[in-house]
Amino acid sequence: MRTQVVIIGAGPAGLMLSHLLHKAGIASLVLERRTAAYVQSRIRAGILEQVTVDLLREIGVCAGMEREGLPHQGFSLALDGDIFRIDMHALTGGSSVMVYGQTQVTRDLIEAFADRPGDLVFEAENVALHDLGSGRPSVTYEKDGQTLRVQCDYVAGCDGYHGVSRGSIPDHAGRSYERAYPFGWLGILADVPPCHHELIYSNHARGFALASMRSPVRSRYYVQVPSDEDIGAWPDARLWDELALRLGPEAASHMQTGPSIEKSIAGLKSFVFEPMRYGALFLAGDAAHIVPPTGAKGLNLAMSDVKLLSRAFAARYVEGTEAELDRYSERALSRVWKAERFSWWFTGLTHRFPNMDAFDRRMQVAELSYIRGSRAAQTVMAENYVGLPL
Ligand code: FAD
Ligand code: PHB
Repeated sequence: MRTQVVIIGAGPAGLMLSHLLHKAGIASLVLERRTAAYVQSRIRAGILEQVTVDLLREIGVCAGMEREGLPHQGFSLALDGDIFRIDMHALTGGSSVMVYGQTQVTRDLIEAFADRPGDLVFEAENVALHDLGSGRPSVTYEKDGQTLRVQCDYVAGCDGYHGVSRGSIPDHAGRSYERAYPFGWLGILADVPPCHHELIYSNHARGFALASMRSPVRSRYYVQVPSDEDIGAWPDARLWDELALRLGPEAASHMQTGPSIEKSIAGLKSFVFEPMRYGALFLAGDAAHIVPPTGAKGLNLAMSDVKLLSRAFAARYVEGTEAELDRYSERALSRVWKAERFSWWFTGLTHRFPNMDAFDRRMQVAELSYIRGSRAAQTVMAENYVGLPL
């Protein structure tokens, strides 16, 4: 078999890249290890930046988002239950974000393969990358007990943090940077109306909490828990009580509780691998970088990577120049590091660290109080939250 670009992984990055390439007349094959049902049921991100919204519109996969997405022009910060609003729209000259879940985005992107089903393979096992440093790369995989080989010009590694792509790069050809956080987020999804019309990020003496949503009748909440927390210790009732405490009396008075549809703990990590290229292999999304979810950047960074990468492939195939591919890693990383910084900073501002002393806590309180009183500080937050320019 032969194609122009083999894409490893059918997460948001891989699916979007394939659609963008298709639109540019470039052939690709997406190889995904899991089933379609598994990929679509992963409850992860919930906030789309303008760049992501624009890409979904560009490929014409936007009907669901236009119908069900909730545009948000602001969000709130809370300190020990005292809430104040950041007016993103006013502070950024008109930018906003869209509440539309990653499950919905991946469902829509997978459905859009209906007219080219051969380009997306689920349950592709033992994917392996070959001859990346040569002019004749290939990818092998197993499907239904058969081993298949695909010759290609390039490979796009969109297979997330635990994928095979980054691991195919020799040690001497790259370097990683990492920060692990000593806590995770316990998330709950429930079919109850949200407690507030926008998101609330709360710094509370007991730890961080976030009130988010998926629709006017479906809420998503998180509380910070220790990294090694046992989810069994959190029956729904305890989680609702803790959320009410950490989000404060105003939010709690509007909070409706109900049985969890999903409940899970995700670890928090900052990670960057440089460069995002090795020979014929280009990394995009979580395969190259991870952010703690505090800034809602993970999915959006994956989308901005594939926007840059698809433009670079188009320059290669349509104009015949590799210059854009050569610049891809540097251009993507410049934005990645800024999002890493914002996510790390926002995490530090809002979470309770085990080694924090009274002074550290006062610093958080002072910074939140400063942001509350300073339009300049709010503008910095708002322009990072809506997404920096590509
Ligand atoms: P992924 O979504 O990870 O997709 C990679 C795909 O590659 C997967 O489908 C995987 O099955 C496949 N794959 C892996 N290995 C192989 C292989 N060897 N062969 C073939 N296929 C392979 N971001 C936010 O903004 N907000 C959040 O609340 C949030 N919560 C998160 C919770 C969790 C538990 C995790 C893990 C991430 C969360 N994120 C969140 C981050 C966000 O979901 C990711 O940044 C986003 O999914 C990145 O998309 P991606 O396509 O790069 O990678
Ligand atoms: C979510 O709704 O899942 C969500 C929203 C904002 C974040 C992280 C997660 O910063």
